[in-house]
Parts: sequence; C-alpha cells; structure tokens
Amino acid sequence: MNEHTRPLTLSERADELEEQMMQALNERIITKSVLFRMADGRVEIDNGQALLAANPGKHFLMGADPRLPEMPEKPTLIDFFKARFASTSHMLQSATHALKGGHSEKIVLACLLHDIGVASFIRCDHGYWGAQMLEPYVEEEVSWAVRMHQALRFFPDPSVGYEYPQMYVKFFGADYKPEPYIVAEYERARNHKWYMSTRLITLNDIYSFDPDAKVDLSDFVDIIGRNFKQPKEGLGFDNSPSAHMWRTLMWPTRFL
Ligand SMILES: [Fe+2]
Ligand SMILES: [Fe+2]
Repeated sequence: MNEHTRPLTLSERADELEEQMMQALNERIITKSVLFRMADGRVEIDNGQALLAANPGKHFLMGADPRLPEMPEKPTLIDFFKARFASTSHMLQSATHALKGGHSEKIVLACLLHDIGVASFIRCDHGYWGAQMLEPYVEEEVSWAVRMHQALRFFPDPSVGYEYPQMYVKFFGADYKPEPYIVAEYERARNHKWYMSTRLITLNDIYSFDPDAKVDLSDFVDIIGRNFKQPKEGLGFDNSPSAHMWRTLMWPTRFL
C-alpha cells in the first residue's frame, strides 16, 4: 500500500493536526497571563517588546485562540458547558441527584452550576468566582447559594445528615482547618434565611465521583431555559457586571 492511499495512523493524524495548529498560531503571537505562570511557581510576565522583536512582522493574538474549541458569536451557557468547562460530569451528577430528590428548579440549577468556577476558571475560592459569574443571570438565592457552598462544605450539619466529606480528609489531611474567613462566612450562612438552599448544594454534591455515571446536559436544558436569563447579545457581550469574566473564558490568551 503506498503512502497516499493508506489511511493515516492516529499518530500521523495527530501530527497533521498539530502542524495545522502551528500554522494557525504562526500568524499571531500567543502569550500567557501572569496567573498561568504562577501555577508553575513563577511570578513572571512576557516582555511584549522582546516577543515582537523575536517574531518580526507578527502581531499578538487579540481574539479567539485557534487551539481551543470554537465559540459562537453569541455564546449561551450551554455553549460554555460544551466548549469551556473542562469537566461537567460532577455538576451534572449533583443536579441529577437534586432532581431525583424532588427539589425545586432553583435548587437543581444551583447544583448544576455550583462548581462552574472550578470547572472553567480557578480552584481557589471557586464558589465566589462562580457566584460572581452567575449573579446577573440567576435569582439572587441561586448565586448566593453557590457562593456560600465554598464555606459550608467544611461544616457538618447532622440535622440534615451532612457529614464532613471523607474525601476532604484524603485531599487536605486530617488536620486541615478552614481559614478564619471561611469560618466567618459559614457563620453568616448558618443564620441566613437561605441557609437550606446552600446546604442542599452540599447535600447533593457528589463527593465520590462516578466516572461511569450516565448524565446528560440535555436533561437540564429546559430548567436552564426557565431559570437562567440568557442575554440575547450572548454571554460576554451584554454589558453585565460579569460579562468580562465570560469574555476572558472565551479568549483566555488575548494579549490585552
Ligand atoms: Fe464546590
Ligand atoms: Fe461540587
């Protein structure tokens, strides 16, 4: 079989794709934000002038990164689920659990979205980041519950059968103690009229992730439609207080 008729092997196809990507990248200089570098233990920023000098005739990327899945012009929450959330199974499992438990659509939505901060953006304080992204688009109770689950996860409530997750003992060690700001936040949540909404997020949070669970975003499209105020301009372009966060997710390597 000659080279032109045989199908490409997987690794040849991967090489070809990489080659196509490099050609696309060749047209623009792609840089990393300081935060991305800090994750590698370095507080550094690219020197723009030096990069320009090293890439004569080229310009910095100021839009979509060709290495990432394409986003439509007016992206919806569903588009972000599909193209920007690195893992959705855990959130879908939690929402499925809440749905089966007969909870309100508000609670199901809160469970579905409770970890978007960590799924798309950043681990540290993910409840706060996620709540901020959602605030303009959901009822206040939903974003409040997402914010507060950050603290509540660490505190048991025997009255509803919530125990400190065993997974956290494995993750953080038996001697881990939440920081004072988390304790204070928990105390505020404990005395709040919406306490049970955020508690339900932690109760439906599936701590033993099942990689084989059958979950499907399409089960939640109607609930999203009724409870998430999708802006007609697309997330990122509606001039809301968190529009910039959605744009940054869409274009994480834009130079400025
Ligand atoms: Fe979480
Ligand atoms: Fe979670």
